[in-house]
Order: sequence, then C-alpha cells, then structure tokens
Amino acid sequence: MADEKVGTGIGGLDDMLGGGIPAGQIIALLGSCGTGKTTMSLQFIWAGLQKGEKGIFISLEEDETAIISNALTYGWDLRPFVENKTLTLVKLEPSDAKSTISRIRGELPTYIKQTGSKRVVFDSVSLLSMLFDSESDRRAGLFDLCKQIKSSGATALFTAEVKPEIPNVSRDGLVEYVADGVILLRYNETSDGSDIQLSVRVVKMRRANHSRRIKPYNITSKGIEVHSKAEVF
Ligand SMILES: Nc1ncnc2c1ncn2[C@@H]1O[C@H](COP(=O)(O)OP(=O)(O)O)[C@@H](O)[C@H]1O
Ligand SMILES: [Mg+2]
Repeated sequence: MADEKVGTGIGGLDDMLGGGIPAGQIIALLGSCGTGKTTMSLQFIWAGLQKGEKGIFISLEEDETAIISNALTYGWDLRPFVENKTLTLVKLEPSDAKSTISRIRGELPTYIKQTGSKRVVFDSVSLLSMLFDSESDRRAGLFDLCKQIKSSGATALFTAEVKPEIPNVSRDGLVEYVADGVILLRYNETSDGSDIQLSVRVVKMRRANHSRRIKPYNITSKGIEVHSKAEVF
C-alpha cells in the first residue's frame, strides 16, 4: 500500500515520478496562467475514470458546463461519467467567501468519503486562499482541507498560481508546505524570443525516488505530453 502509485495519465510525467504519485498524497501543481494546470488536472481525473476510479473535480474558476467543454477539447468526454456519478464536478463561488468556506469545511469532506473518490482535484487553491480574511485563517483553512482529504485516502492535485515576480513560488506561499509534493510548470521564451518552451520539474515528492531534471512538455489536442527523454535547452 505504501508503495502504491497513482498514474497521472501522462506517461512522461509518471516516468519522472518513478511510476506516478504515491497513493494518498496531495500534490501542488504550480505554474503561471496558461501553463496547463487545469489541463493536467483534468487528465489526471480522466486517467482515473478510464480505470473505474471515482473522482471529484472542484473548481473555483469554471462551472460544470465549462469544465465539460474544456475537457472535450482534448477528447475527454466527461458527461457519461457525471451521469453515472463516477465523476462529481463541484463549482465553488469565489465571490461568496462565507458559503464557500463553510462548504469546504462541511459538506466536501463528507462528500469525498461518501462517494469513495480516489482522485480529487482542487482548481485552484490560490483562489481559495484569497477567500480567507487573515494569514492565520488561510493557514488553518488549507491545513484543515488537507487533513480532511488525507483522511479520505484519496490522491489529490491542488493547482496554484505562482508569484509573478518569482515563478517558482506559489502566490499564497503556503500550498507547497502543506502538500506532500510539488510539481512546477514553467514557460520560458526561447533564446531568440520567437517562441515559448514549456518545462516541468518535480520539486519535491515525499516517499518517492523522483527525477529532479527539468523536462519539456507540450499541450496538444490530446492533452499534455511530457518528453521525459528529452533535454530542455
Ligand atoms: N485543444 C488544445 N490543444 C492545444 N493546446 C490547447 C488546447 N486547449 C488549450 N490549449 C492550451 O492550453 C492552455 C491552457 O491551459 P490551462 O490548463 O487552462 O492552463 P492553466 O490552468 O495553467 O491556466 C491554453 O493557453 C492553450 O494554449
Ligand atoms: Mg486553470
């Protein structure tokens, strides 16, 4: 059980992780806007659905319809899974801090346990962080969420935006400390400035012998492809 790995749905990333995410861990997926955090999260959920694993995708950004059509652009049809309740899509309202925080504390943990979800996505914890009034509430809120997910046994991805001035640190500066692992997505301009190159690095991963190399990836019509055999520069 301790060595059980959860495949991300991205072969090259699983290679970097030594097979996948250690089961039951919470992984922070850091990157600036457009680096593919939502795509990678959907791919992770999709990979689970293909194996009959239940999933929950919690979004503060997109509603159910938008999530479904977003996934469909990569060829992942979530609708039948929503209909047969293998997948639950939850939209939380970032404008209603009070009710969102109370849903996260109350019904969500119960829900994750009751549905027997194996994979949980929270997109994004940066938006969640902004709902708390103080640093200490934010810290307590995030720790509590992690504790609840951990006790359910599910494996989770938390997406987070990075600080614009420091693109390897999350905006709240917190999620990388509460998570068991950190995957960092970046985009860099090529040396002539004519194009961008996406790269991924596994910064930390508890109980896993992971690669620390930086590897290139692409976002394609089939989702994310990590080129674990290639070099970045
Ligand atoms: N069908 C597609 N084929 C290729 N690239 C796509 C496709 N759909 C979206 N993208 C690219 O993926 C990016 C969005 O990724 P997304 O997962 O939303 O990033 P993030 O959540 O980090 O902001 C877009 O900027 C676009 O360049
Ligand atoms: Mg996103």
